[in-house]
Formats: sequence, structure tokens, C-alpha cells
Amino acid sequence: MSARRALLPFAIATVLLAGPLRAEDAGKASYTKHCASCHGADGGGSAQKATLLKLDPKLLDLRRSESASATPAELREIVVAGKNKMPAYGKKLPAAEIDALMAYVEKLRHP
Ligand code: HEC
Repeated sequence: MSARRALLPFAIATVLLAGPLRAEDAGKASYTKHCASCHGADGGGSAQKATLLKLDPKLLDLRRSESASATPAELREIVVAGKNKMPAYGKKLPAAEIDALMAYVEKLRHP
């Protein structure tokens, strides 16, 4: 076996391991850009934004107990279609980016 061939499995493993990491980074970057101003960097919600929007701060907390029972599909629908003061992102962001975002939101909900 040539040296190059011997390295091939490692190269494949590197690509396979880097894939999910990059998706997670993309989700986090997108969340920081589009969502953190209202929902906070940690998903706990921005108290300042709640005051500004005249909202119950709990509505911005993605980790609140009411949302704990929501399924990922239900939450995705809210992100796509919007709800009250929550903007709709279905036409603003590509589906793949929303996928990455929702995976990141799941991490924030279940730290
Ligand atoms: C302008 C502030 C604002 C921004 C920006 C924002 N949201 Fe929201 N979001 C809200 C509000 C307000 C609600 C609560 C809506 C309601 O139930 O009345 C909400 C609700 C949600 C919910 C549903 C939570 C639940 O338990 O029902 C999810 C999930 C969510 N937002 C994710 C996101 C994501 C992901 C982004 C970025 C792409 C984002 N939000 C950007 C204000 C915002």
C-alpha cells in the first residue's frame, strides 16, 4: 500500500468529522446574527429587548418551560412563518440555514 493510500481513511474521517462541526458553526453564526438580539446569546432572552418591544421577557426565553414541550417541527414553523412579534424567516433565509439554526436552537434549549 502506498503512503498516500494509507492516509486516505484519515482524510475521509477528517472530512466526516468536520462536516457536522461546520454545520453547528453555521447555526451559531446565523443565530448570533439574526436571533441573539431578541433571544440572547444563550437563548435566555434579552430583557432590554423585551422592554423595548413591550413584551413579557418570558416570551423571548427559548428555554422556558412552556416551550419545552414544543416539538422541533413546531418551533421551526414559528421561525419560518413568524408569530406575533417574532419575525418570519422563511423567505429571508435558505432552508439549509434554518436547519442549521434549529439544530443550534435545540442545543440552547437543552444545554
Ligand atoms: C424582534 C425580536 C425577535 C427576533 C429577531 C427573533 N425572535 Fe424568535 N421570538 C420573538 C418573540 C416575541 C417570540 C414569541 C412569539 C409569541 O409567542 O408571541 C419568539 C418566539 C420564537 C420561538 C418559539 C418559542 C416557543 O417556545 O414558542 C422560536 C423557536 C424562535 N422565536 C426562534 C427564533 C430564531 C431561530 C430567530 C432567528 C432566526 C428568532 N427567533 C429571531 C422575537 C424574536
